Amino acid sequence: MIRAFIFDLDGVLTDTAEYHYRGWKRLADEEGFAFSRDDNEHLRGVPRRESLMLILKGRTYPEPKILEMMERKNKYYLAFIQEITPRDLLPGARELLEEIRAAGLKNALGSASKNAGEVIERLGIRYLFDAVSDGFSVERQKPAPDLFLHAADQLGLPPAECVVVEDAAAGIEAARAGGFPSVGLGPLERVGRADAIFPSLDGVHMTDLYKALNITSE
Ligand code: BG6
Ligand code: MG
Repeated sequence: MIRAFIFDLDGVLTDTAEYHYRGWKRLADEEGFAFSRDDNEHLRGVPRRESLMLILKGRTYPEPKILEMMERKNKYYLAFIQEITPRDLLPGARELLEEIRAAGLKNALGSASKNAGEVIERLGIRYLFDAVSDGFSVERQKPAPDLFLHAADQLGLPPAECVVVEDAAAGIEAARAGGFPSVGLGPLERVGRADAIFPSLDGVHMTDLYKALNITSE
C-alpha cells in the first residue's frame, strides 16, 4: 500500500543540479582546481561541505578558507536561483505532484539543500507538499536514510508506504537504507540500484510508477 511520494528536488523536479554544477565550477576555476561535469555526477545529492571535500580531492585548508569557499559557491548558486520561475519545473513534475494529491495521497520534499525552501517557493509548488525536509532537517545527510525518515515521520507514515523519487546514487542508497521503495531518474550507472528506473518524470504517471514497482494501487 503506497500512501505518499517523497521527492528529491535538485535534478528531479527542477534542473538546479546544473546550477549547483556551475557554482562549483566557477569556484574550482577561480581556485585552479580541475573539476569536470563527470566529476560533478558524483556530487549529486551530496551536501555542500562534503561536495567541497570531494572537489578538493584530499587537499587540506584551514577551516576559515573552507567556510569561505562554501559561502562563495552558495553566493553563486543563490544568484542563479533568483531567476527561477514556475517555467523551470522539469517536464511531468507538476502533473505528477497534482495527480498524487488528486488521488488522495501525500507529497513530501526530501532535499539535502539548505536552499530547497526558496526553490520550491519560486517554482510555485510549495502548496503541493504536505511535508518539507531539507538541508536543515537532519544532521546525517544522504546516503544515510535520516532525511527520508524525517519526511516519513512528518507524514506519519512508515517507510514502506512512501516511494522515494531520486536522481542521485546517494539518494537511492538512502532510500534503500531506510526501507523505502525507490524510483531512480537517469542513467543506470547512477541510479541502477533503484527499484524502478525512468529517464525523467516526463510523461510518467502514477500507474507507470506502480507498474514499474510491481505495486497494486488498491
Ligand atoms: C542537493 C544537491 O540537493 O543539495 C547537491 O543535489 C547540493 O548538489 C546539496 O550540494 C546541498 O545544497 P545547498 O543548497 O545546501 O548547498
Ligand atoms: Mg538530486
